[in-house]
Amino acid sequence: MKVGIPKETFPGERRVGLIPAAAARLSKAGLTVVVEEGAGQAAGFPDDAYVDVGVTMVATGGLGDADLILKVQPPTLEEAAGYGEGTTLVALLQPGRIDAVYAELARRNITAFAMELVPRTTKAQSMDVLSSQATVAGYKAVLVAASEQGKLLPMLTTAAGTLAPAKAFVIGAGVAGLQAIATARRLGAIVSAFDVRPVVREQVESLGASFIEAEAVAEAEGAGGYAKELAEEQQEKVLAAIAGHVPDMDIVITTAQIPGKPAPLLITEPMVRSMRPGSVIVDLAAETGGNCALTKAGETVVVGGVKIIGPVNLPATVPLHASQMYSKNLTTFVEHITEEGALAIDLDDPITGPMCVVANGEVRFGRTT
Ligand code: NAI
Repeated sequence: MKVGIPKETFPGERRVGLIPAAAARLSKAGLTVVVEEGAGQAAGFPDDAYVDVGVTMVATGGLGDADLILKVQPPTLEEAAGYGEGTTLVALLQPGRIDAVYAELARRNITAFAMELVPRTTKAQSMDVLSSQATVAGYKAVLVAASEQGKLLPMLTTAAGTLAPAKAFVIGAGVAGLQAIATARRLGAIVSAFDVRPVVREQVESLGASFIEAEAVAEAEGAGGYAKELAEEQQEKVLAAIAGHVPDMDIVITTAQIPGKPAPLLITEPMVRSMRPGSVIVDLAAETGGNCALTKAGETVVVGGVKIIGPVNLPATVPLHASQMYSKNLTTFVEHITEEGALAIDLDDPITGPMCVVANGEVRFGRTT
């Protein structure tokens, strides 16, 4: 069975679907890995690194006979049209956002799996791209904030005087938020955090950050350990707690998300205006509408001297390790859907089934029956 790794074409995407070490692992399992020239270059994996582990390099567009394609970004319509009929595709497929591509995949009888839909169960943990890429985003968000700051983060006592440590506040203590807390702590900031799921308090505190209390945030945890949307009066209490805390912050990192819904609004314009000039907000929820009222995805907005940064695709800016983790997630999934070097897809399987968005000429994602 031939596994093809295309070179990513999406602007700014520097990750690759499979790094050489993972290619070697799949080869060992009896699969033939073929990689488009330059596919790993931007992630720090030159063609030679693939050739060294026995991979065959092909020119762009040379994957038409691959049985399985492993990618990062969804294919363009043109790319999808270049895949062989009946191919299987595994990538981040933005379920619900690229209907035309899904229709093309269905038309060409391609079976497609969206890595974002991996169930968040213990068994599927090593396939969980949301966690692996959120880890990278949480880490990088702190570096972005630190480099846009006029302050150093740690407390320093020097011959030139004493510098007070910077104060960082992380809103949303899921995977990205916890990594942001840990990173800000390592850089020496005084860190506080807030989440609507009271269960994360202990995790926040174990990382050396303080947990900000909001009154009456009960039962905000929904299915699968995710947050639920808050009732209006609870939301007001949350906003009051955040409003009381942000004026003294140098850095605010927001990561709050509710699956399937726009990101909750947690930093209002008056809150931004209450912060000191030079402070920085990094809004990791920018792509789903933003946690800050002033966020613009992909842009930096400055209001009253406060920078509001709305990064998109932060994992692609740390491409080597992001690709390494993504590759591990993909390899585990490939091992799950193959047997003795051949595809063995079982759509009734509790991991494979929910991740399948196109099969047998039909779009499965979003269907109601
Ligand atoms: P996410 O990206 O959906 O949300 C990030 C954080 O925002 C969450 O902690 C959420 O509680 C918080 N949030 C939502 N609304 C908020 C509000 N109004 N104010 C403040 N914070 C708010 O979540 P993520 O990081 O993908 O994972 C969340 C949880 O999912 C984990 O903590 C865990 O319980 C579960 N999970 C389970 C895994 C597994 O078992 N394999 C793997 C990863 C996560």
